[in-house]
Amino acid sequence: MNFIDVLHARKSVRAFADKPVSRETVEELLRLASRSPSGTNIQPWKVHIVAGDVRRRLEEEVLAHRETNPPDTGAEFPRMGKRKEPYQTRMRKLGKDMYSLIGIPKGDQAANWAQWGRNYKFFDAPVGLIFTVDKDLDRMSYVDIGMFMQSFMLAAKAHGLDTCAQGAWNNYWSVTRRVLNVPEDEFIIAGISLGYADDSHPVNTLVAEREPLDSFATFHGF
Ligand SMILES: Cc1cc2nc3c(=O)[nH]c(=O)nc-3n(C[C@H](O)[C@H](O)[C@H](O)COP(=O)(O)O)c2cc1C
Repeated sequence: MNFIDVLHARKSVRAFADKPVSRETVEELLRLASRSPSGTNIQPWKVHIVAGDVRRRLEEEVLAHRETNPPDTGAEFPRMGKRKEPYQTRMRKLGKDMYSLIGIPKGDQAANWAQWGRNYKFFDAPVGLIFTVDKDLDRMSYVDIGMFMQSFMLAAKAHGLDTCAQGAWNNYWSVTRRVLNVPEDEFIIAGISLGYADDSHPVNTLVAEREPLDSFATFHGF
């Protein structure tokens, strides 16, 4: 695939096939992603790669915690609740499109809860990644880590693999910190599921729409 094809082919996959991904492959993708730019080349990305027993423990503990606790809050990593327009509408549209594809009726809280909970099983992908950042760094470093994540996801696609970026992993950071021994001076930002798409699953037919160019681009001096 050429680069433009890879860019178009990458999409968030939320159901993975039971097919392993080797450590060597993950290492190769991480090396490629580390070609990402970062402000003053500080390369602030840190990533925990989970598989096997540790991954099973992480999933079990986060899912159990989630049954009886609200999402973690506090000073760890400020997140926004309800977003202003047009963001709220875009978010709702994605949820509505996804849930109608997999047959979850509007207002079915239990099914909704269960589907969102699949985040904490990495959607059954064989490999999960958890990204952290040094608490001392400013927001520009989060831009750097976003670049790394996108490079990783594109590199994965170019190797025939699929991914889903997951802010969900920030919701229960206290458990993730404990299970993975993440140092206290790092924030847990997000995760990525990595594996091969289950092409028979309807959730993977979701097409997330994009707004037209003139909704986000302002040209000056042309
Ligand atoms: C920073 C970030 C966090 C995300 N968090 C989640 C998540 O927790 N769960 C999920 O299913 N998708 C998550 N996504 C995937 C987005 O929903 C998806 O990228 C968006 O709808 C566009 O669709 P596409 O990736 O298929 O092009 C996240 C994406 C990004 C970039």
